[in-house]
Amino acid sequence: MAKKANGATQMASGTVTPAHERLRNLSHEEHREVRDILLGLIAAFEARDVKSARKLQKELCIHAGPHFRYEEETLHPLLQPVVGKVQVEHLNREHDRAIVDAIYLGKITAEKKLGEDEARQGKRLVRRILPHVSDCDGLHVMVEMISEAEVETILAARENALKENISLLDWASKIRERSFRDTYQRDYYATRRQARGYG
Ligand SMILES: [Fe+2]
Ligand SMILES: [Fe+2]
Repeated sequence: MAKKANGATQMASGTVTPAHERLRNLSHEEHREVRDILLGLIAAFEARDVKSARKLQKELCIHAGPHFRYEEETLHPLLQPVVGKVQVEHLNREHDRAIVDAIYLGKITAEKKLGEDEARQGKRLVRRILPHVSDCDGLHVMVEMISEAEVETILAARENALKENISLLDWASKIRERSFRDTYQRDYYATRRQARGYG
């Protein structure tokens, strides 16, 4: 940060290196994939097509597992000096809720048929996850404010998470260090109890 003549602090504007561009492109592609899965889930719930909904719920967990992992383990902590602790907590809470919702979606889509209520509930859960996809994609304007070396660290963490390829609910129950906060903690354990076998 540079000091202006009047003593005010001026934030250096971000530098976009090839590493920044690579991360932005990879992450954007991942968000596109998740967006399409979520929109596909909404369409499947509308058509009461339980088979497609089940397949898409699994795809959601496969895609979101490594993605959430590198974000929480590396991207969010490295962004904290730029966006602040409260925003990082918000992003992680959004993940808490998406995990709980993915378990509910697993429970709903494991049934033989989708009733009207289940289809409506399924759509509601998916629509609740959807805004995080665009919020998370928008973070790249903040990533421009961190160094190339830090971006390289995120890229390496992403590679690692993809190599280990642990699906969302397995990661959440076995590896994720963050504990679910407040209501999500109760919700998480209650949902897991109800939906035995799906998370
Ligand atoms: Fe993301
Ligand atoms: Fe995220």
